[in-house]
Amino acid sequence: MDFRLTDDQLMIQTAAREFATREIAPSAQRFDESGEFPTANIRKAGELGFMAVEVPEAYGGSGLDPISFCVMLEEIAAADAAHSTIISVNNSLYCNAIVQFGNEAQKQQFVRPIASGAEVGCYGLTEPQSGSDAGNMRTRAVRTANGTHYTVNGKKSWITSGPVARYMLLFATVDPAKGPKGVTAFVVDAREAGYLRGKTEPKLGIRASATCEIEFADYLVPAANRLGAEGQGFQIAMTVLDAGRIGIASQSIGIARAAYGASLHYVRERKAFGSAIGTFQMIQAKIADMKCRIDAARLLTLRAAWNKADCARRGGRNTTEASVAKLFASETAMFCAHQAVQIHGGLGYSKEMPIERYFRDAKITEIYEGTSEIQRLVIARQETGLR
Ligand code: CAA
Repeated sequence: MDFRLTDDQLMIQTAAREFATREIAPSAQRFDESGEFPTANIRKAGELGFMAVEVPEAYGGSGLDPISFCVMLEEIAAADAAHSTIISVNNSLYCNAIVQFGNEAQKQQFVRPIASGAEVGCYGLTEPQSGSDAGNMRTRAVRTANGTHYTVNGKKSWITSGPVARYMLLFATVDPAKGPKGVTAFVVDAREAGYLRGKTEPKLGIRASATCEIEFADYLVPAANRLGAEGQGFQIAMTVLDAGRIGIASQSIGIARAAYGASLHYVRERKAFGSAIGTFQMIQAKIADMKCRIDAARLLTLRAAWNKADCARRGGRNTTEASVAKLFASETAMFCAHQAVQIHGGLGYSKEMPIERYFRDAKITEIYEGTSEIQRLVIARQETGLR
């Protein structure tokens, strides 16, 4: 087994590290405080090919592999988690989904402008009454009498990039009685009538990644914008999340790494009882535990990314590998951010340092794209074959 990155993977990792250090890290605190969407940085990320890493060049992407996406995203997240959320959703939940399930016309129309970073895409699955129970959605798509369109009514909530996104990959039911088998996927244009944005959510962390509710009020979507067949939407949503969860795992590693890096520096500098605190066994245990968990999380995530590419070649699902990586990495982010606050003491609790931001940002990784409880459910169902 060869653990070395390829030249392409090393190149995007270096480019992302330079961009994150030069452009993102210096503005992360400002964006966290203001909650402003980092439009200019996202455009630049698009110019560098980070908004559509795995999208083929024919549709405006970088044409790289899932591991390239992971190493890029970890670098961005180590500088600022909010930027990495926007970039992850754009790549995995929007662009890659349309590349995988769309027809040629849909890929040209809906992927190309979003791959460049000129505009942003979003993913509309969650509703006010259905988060973990995603199949229980109420947003309804009713085919018009002449068959050319669907009329959509309903509400989607917690939409990452919702306040700014040009297009949404929307999941709506054409027949609520069918449960998940009625769910159908569409690409909808935010500029059309009946697409109503709610207020931007005030959040604990990833504050610069704008989030809002979207209401559909007699919104007319052309039947040509349907992705796949009627009733195929839930399977599309789940397949896309299997891929998206690898992105959140990479984001988690970036946050954990930032918390760990700051801690390593601090334990060498800070003195107590006449010694650097890094000489104390209780601090050493924290450092060792953080290091082990980060390494393990990264290996699990790269395995999931490798397996994703293998499944694309040979068929099969990447469900377990993706959920294992997401669960372990997100809990690693929370663990490391928690330890970092403890190691820094009062300074870790202060807005003068980024440690408290890592702590706030880490929490969401255990919630979105499937909570830790849902990841455990998915893994256990896959392992036991029981439901
Ligand atoms: N890949 C392909 N198909 C899948 C699948 C997968 N990973 N998981 C399920 N399916 C298929 C099943 O095979 C089944 O099809 P058949 O009936 O033909 O066999 C169908 O989908 C229904 O599956 P289940 O019966 O397992 O569905 P369920 O209602 O029990 O729910 C669940 C399964 C795993 C709990 C799912 O609802 C889930 O993942 N919930 C979490 C939702 C989530 O992650 N939301 C995140 C929102 S997006 C977000 O957070 C973005 C952001 O802001 C960053």
